[in-house]
Amino acid sequence: MEVIRVKDYDGMSEEAASILVERINRLDNPVLGLATGSTPEGLYKRLIEEYKQGNVSFKNVKSFNLDEYVGLEKNDPNSYYYFMKEKLFDHVDISLENVRVPNGVASDLQQECKDHEAAIQASGGIDVQLLGIGANGHIGFNEPGTPFSSKTQVVDLDESTIEANSRFFDSIEDVPTQAVSMGIETIMNSKEILLLISGAGKAEALDRLINGDVTEDLPASVLKNHPNVTVIADDAAFTVIDSK
Ligand code: PGA
Repeated sequence: MEVIRVKDYDGMSEEAASILVERINRLDNPVLGLATGSTPEGLYKRLIEEYKQGNVSFKNVKSFNLDEYVGLEKNDPNSYYYFMKEKLFDHVDISLENVRVPNGVASDLQQECKDHEAAIQASGGIDVQLLGIGANGHIGFNEPGTPFSSKTQVVDLDESTIEANSRFFDSIEDVPTQAVSMGIETIMNSKEILLLISGAGKAEALDRLINGDVTEDLPASVLKNHPNVTVIADDAAFTVIDSK
């Protein structure tokens, strides 16, 4: 695991954007694994800028999102499909036929999980998977205790995750309690992984990741078993490590 320390959120977004632009330009048919949440928003803004300046094109890009809430339609402003359209897809030349966000309202969710997995396989596999991390160490919606052998599945969200994500909803009761999430093995099958970590709220998770064991209690710790992971973390995320 290579760890790049940057000053702040903007520095993290800039570093991540330059890595992604390089990969998209280098690969003939890049397959990206994309994430939602506050963490990648700055990165997506920068990718849109790079696109507008003619430094990158998404014409040949395929993408797969990590997860989607169960029960939210694509056009629900809180769905991750909506987030991706608003924050990235609508502003670059990616074809919506080439993007796949799990369908959280599929009539057969088990089949939807299998379809997401199969579509990733059929694409030749994910070249670069983007990840954020939960304060509890989750990656995607794989909460602590999720087996490392998991594939795309329907998961129950931790109370702490529901609370953390309630900031986007009118009330905590509106936050879905389940999601479709790529599994840990699905994530680990990516050729390269970029993990972005910003803010003091993630400082304990970063400390446990860097200084702790590989354990299913901290899903992100599995990344230490992957040969090509870059962690980009800002000063605020280092506060627990720095205090030792
Ligand atoms: P955040 O979420 O980017 O909104 O902090 C990250 C995550 O929970 O994986």
